[in-house]
Amino acid sequence: MTDEPPETAPAAPPAPRRRRPATSTTPASGVKAVPPVAPPEPGARIAIGIDVGGSGVKGAGVDLDTGKLVSTRHRVPTPQPSTPDAVVATISRLVKRVEKELALGRDVPVGVGFPGVVLDGTVKTAANVDPGWADYPAEEALRRWLKRHVTVVNDADAAGVAEMRFGAGRGEPGSVFLITLGTGTGSALFWNGTLVPNLELGHMEIRGRDAERRSAAAARVRRGLSWKAWALDLDEHLLAIEKLFWPNLFIIGGGVSKRADKFMPRLTTRARIVPAQLLNDAGIVGSAVLASERAAEATTSGDGGTPPERAVTSEPTASSVRKRAPKASAGGPDPVAAVQAPAAPT
Ligand code: BGC
Repeated sequence: MTDEPPETAPAAPPAPRRRRPATSTTPASGVKAVPPVAPPEPGARIAIGIDVGGSGVKGAGVDLDTGKLVSTRHRVPTPQPSTPDAVVATISRLVKRVEKELALGRDVPVGVGFPGVVLDGTVKTAANVDPGWADYPAEEALRRWLKRHVTVVNDADAAGVAEMRFGAGRGEPGSVFLITLGTGTGSALFWNGTLVPNLELGHMEIRGRDAERRSAAAARVRRGLSWKAWALDLDEHLLAIEKLFWPNLFIIGGGVSKRADKFMPRLTTRARIVPAQLLNDAGIVGSAVLASERAAEATTSGDGGTPPERAVTSEPTASSVRKRAPKASAGGPDPVAAVQAPAAPT
């Protein structure tokens, strides 16, 4: 009898169910979609971060105040050959998926971490991707495709920014190196939290060749080395960096930092060494943070970088308005406090 009043106190109504995107993983194609731990808070400031790697392109929406992923984390294999046209199309698809899932407007900026030197949005080097990227105006091309503000930066720089703001580098003064170990070896240097961009220490010469040929995570697999043997090569690279820069701290990032116990105890630098905390999400998070900062700078300086056909108004949209107090961030200028969301397109 469902219409009888209950004799005991009614049970608390069930918590409203949040719709979460379905997980889909198709290992054969290498396409992965991991749902977010939590959807965005109402009023959260969000940017989209994309991390281009030698084997995969990953992307998600990022809460700029917490550094957490708030959308499905998408990963698709890097197109082969990884020409600019093919990768730009892949990035565009990922951005559109995130945009749709979170119902984001065109005012939400996109950051892209790219595995090469990037000067003013133009890619200058391409060690582990198609050589057609050299001198490719990536930012301009992506802005045309996506019709929104896009910032392209070096992938290690992006990962370093994320670790300094939300991870292992929080509050670390002096000089800190983030070393990312993936298809190549990336490096990012911070002085009192400020990034010195485009450091390419994966390409310093050790034993007559590019250091990353021995120290990258892919080098261990390619050369069939044990963790112990590879740790010796990585240690040699870190010691060479230490001899020149004398950092206070090394943060070791990239997917391999999940296996820190396998190699970190064998590293012998004078500087402290810690594993990264954001693991494989650092590149996504950091590029989103940098995109948000650059978009804000461009809005303030009048150089919107937004295509003219998408002129902006001064009305902020719900997705770009911050309602929460910024979290304190140490180790450099507070990105959150520094950022003003760009205005909505008409
Ligand atoms: C590239 C760097 C990049 C690193 C990690 C190196 O081969 O030259 O720019 O940061 O790989 O992807």
